[in-house]
Amino acid sequence: MRIFAYMALGLAAIVCPAAATATDAPVQATIDVGKSGAVIDRHIFGQFAEHLGSGVYGGIWVGKDSTIPNTRGIRNDVVAALKALKVPDVRWPGGCYADNYHWRDGIGKTRNARVNTSWGGVIDSNDFGTDEYFDFINQIGSEAYISLNVGSGTVKEAADWLEYMTASQPTALEQERVANGHPAPYRVQFMGIGNESWDCGGLMTATEYTGELKRYGRFVNNFNASVPMAKIAVGPGTDDTTWTEAVMKTWKERHGWSFDMQGMSLHSYTVFGGWPPHVSATDFDEQGYADVLAETLKMEPLIKKQTAVMDQYDPDKKIALVVDEWGAWYAPTPNSNPGFLQQQNTQRDAILAALNLDIFARHADRVRMTNIAQMINVLQAMILTDGPKMVLTPTYHVFRMYVPFQDATFVPMTYDPGTYTHGGASLPRIDAIAAKDKSGKIWVAVTNLDPTRPATFDLSATGLKATKAVGETLGAPKINSFNSFDAPDTVSPKPVAAKLVNGNLVLELKPESVTVVGLEP
Ligand code: AHR
Repeated sequence: MRIFAYMALGLAAIVCPAAATATDAPVQATIDVGKSGAVIDRHIFGQFAEHLGSGVYGGIWVGKDSTIPNTRGIRNDVVAALKALKVPDVRWPGGCYADNYHWRDGIGKTRNARVNTSWGGVIDSNDFGTDEYFDFINQIGSEAYISLNVGSGTVKEAADWLEYMTASQPTALEQERVANGHPAPYRVQFMGIGNESWDCGGLMTATEYTGELKRYGRFVNNFNASVPMAKIAVGPGTDDTTWTEAVMKTWKERHGWSFDMQGMSLHSYTVFGGWPPHVSATDFDEQGYADVLAETLKMEPLIKKQTAVMDQYDPDKKIALVVDEWGAWYAPTPNSNPGFLQQQNTQRDAILAALNLDIFARHADRVRMTNIAQMINVLQAMILTDGPKMVLTPTYHVFRMYVPFQDATFVPMTYDPGTYTHGGASLPRIDAIAAKDKSGKIWVAVTNLDPTRPATFDLSATGLKATKAVGETLGAPKINSFNSFDAPDTVSPKPVAAKLVNGNLVLELKPESVTVVGLEP
């Protein structure tokens, strides 16, 4: 987790958007659809599900005998909602929990219940294990991102797990999987070698970790030849580059039949006001809004700094920077178990999500995968559940609106973002990206960060004769509006038919809003 000291919060008050008339000059933007950047890998929109609070138990898994509608124990409402996000991959089983996880506890007819020593000291029944995880990701149409236990496991335990999951040859472990009802080998597209090994993963030095990286990277392998598996090393959690240097140097100096890796992780949460997270998820004023968004924008210099080091060792950008934990981290919901990291999710978080996705898209040549923390009921979640009830968060809606950017090609945009200032915080007023999807259609995402002023966005697209511009906009009555079980649609996207004026796309942006539009030739 990345920690920055910052100003204390003022008294909470609600900011209402000003009447929606754009009095400022339009923001002029240009793209040339003949120019292109990197492909925005769909894995930039990845998710993370840890055995933490009700992230898995309750959020995904309710058990076959539950009265909550389910398929083989996995709740149907959550699966239906996630399908719409086209979730590219789900990181599992942790997080810190991964370094306590022993996969044999969670396979077969008899499961070994264990204390979850990472999160809340509750009992983990292990009813949701490897086979249930693959059932879940297959139901939502996603790929596997498995985190290995490097902290308290062994290379052999991890190698056996991969063999259990991916072997098709008649080995003892393959036969065990078959006996458990799963004849076909699973697809493991990504494998993380540890988690935060500099902290909860074993408080290792960089030298200690690179020793583990070489052994796990060499001896833990995928047997399913139909899907190439990327190995992802633990990377840094701050802007310090010592760890990055050590990992990249280890990779650079490998030779012969030694290990290989295809990615290095980066963890960066938006924590405002210092550790532990104590800022309310819902009770904040405009200063709290501006400060948190200013904090989240530090993602960009962080990526640039880490990328610069990676470039020295890997100028061809073979190694992906995988931001496999990011998102807002606030004080836990009052009266909840603090070890469960439950928090509400407001329009501020929708803006925060869009800003980060835009940053990742701008750095898509190196950032080829990210995983927001976390998918359900934990931190900046897509979905909240309570027993049979389920609600979609503002962050969910942003991820759904951004689906057209998955595997689209980045199209560079020029614009003057202007400035939104409040108190000590100074931010861009507008943030925007454009991309071309595989059918050639141009997509534009524009965020108006300013909670008090609407904006007019005027885009000239060289090389494109658009006849129609259709999309959605996500606004909210207040900056701290959220969706509850009783009022699930307080923050929900509305269709927007943008104007085309002399071939330019003209969007009227509400304060604190995210808009995504497709331009039809
Ligand atoms: O996402 C919650 C925790 O944050 C993860 O388990 C850990 O990796 C990070 O510190």
